[in-house]
Amino acid sequence: MKAVAVNQFKSIPQVMDLPEPPLKDGTIRIRLAAAGLNPFDWKMVDGILEEQMPHVFPMILGVDGAGVVEAVGAGVERFKTGDHVYGQMLHSPVGEGSYAEFVTVPESAAIAIAPHSISLADAAALPTSGMTALQLIERAGLTEGQKLLVIGATGGVGSFITQIAKERGIHVIATVSDEEAAARIQQLGAAETINYKKAPVEEQFAGGADALFDLVGNKAGFEKMLPLVKKGGRAYTTQFVADKDHLHEQGLKGGNFETKGSPTSLDALRDLVDNGKLTVPVDRRIPLDQAPVAIADSRTGKSKGKTILLINETLG
Ligand SMILES: NC(=O)c1ccc[n+]([C@@H]2O[C@H](COP(=O)([O-])OP(=O)(O)OC[C@H]3O[C@@H](n4cnc5c(N)ncnc54)[C@H](OP(=O)(O)O)[C@@H]3O)[C@@H](O)[C@H]2O)c1
Repeated sequence: MKAVAVNQFKSIPQVMDLPEPPLKDGTIRIRLAAAGLNPFDWKMVDGILEEQMPHVFPMILGVDGAGVVEAVGAGVERFKTGDHVYGQMLHSPVGEGSYAEFVTVPESAAIAIAPHSISLADAAALPTSGMTALQLIERAGLTEGQKLLVIGATGGVGSFITQIAKERGIHVIATVSDEEAAARIQQLGAAETINYKKAPVEEQFAGGADALFDLVGNKAGFEKMLPLVKKGGRAYTTQFVADKDHLHEQGLKGGNFETKGSPTSLDALRDLVDNGKLTVPVDRRIPLDQAPVAIADSRTGKSKGKTILLINETLG
């Protein structure tokens, strides 16, 4: 089957012809319509999970995907052949990912029935970013009328945060790098935008946010934003740079945030999409062959939403 993989950590991904993964007990085999690209994909190339999970090489990249269940192994109860599914395909060993024509995943993985109102290709872009957005908003306990400052708002995660927060009546203040990004994020529901290229955010925002979600800052960047949050408020980083003691000294709660793959979160995202309350902010839809270039682009941190890698367009 066609797949995009690396032969070793920190190497350039390549299109390869690799064996189809075998179906095992308790797993489902999915014929993929598309994979969704996340920055985590190139972090895996760089070895982010090296100490935590076993890897196989060639390591097929990709966490997010959507497709049709082609076969189910013995003991599988949640899915049947023909189901349209989406979710996170990451499992142990790392390297049997979603940048491929087929993937085999344990049925216990974060997989769920896909939304019916959008294509499987667009559904492939939802899982990691969508679950991160939903779980962050829930963890912060934000309610109607509260103010949320999002740093890095115009990428995949931020575009979903903005929509879900707006739906809950939360006032989103989004950082942007230009006028085009400002218009795009306002369209998705941001109440205010701050162009971080014009001047530092802390010089343009008077403060008083109930919560901060910093999706891109390093430790120093995150700490610079903390005075913008009200005492007793919450500050989260997806970059694992929070120092709990420092947060407490500032009178804040929160810390490092890690998304938990969850069928319940995927079900909630599907309902939001099918009820017309969440759209997939697509930056580009490109063939799987172009994944190596897309991965290189993602490393620059300039995404305008989700990149979808098309694998089998006949699946919808
Ligand atoms: N901890 C977890 O469990 C978890 C889960 C999901 C994602 N993440 C991480 O969260 C990060 C964001 O993910 P993503 O999928 O949203 O990435 P993405 O789609 O690449 O978006 C990143 C966005 O950040 C903006 N940006 C870059 N530098 C900035 C800066 N200095 N100030 C403000 N904005 C800036 C970029 O837009 P501009 O054009 O404005 O620069 C871009 O739109 C990634 O590092 C990802 O790995 C972690």
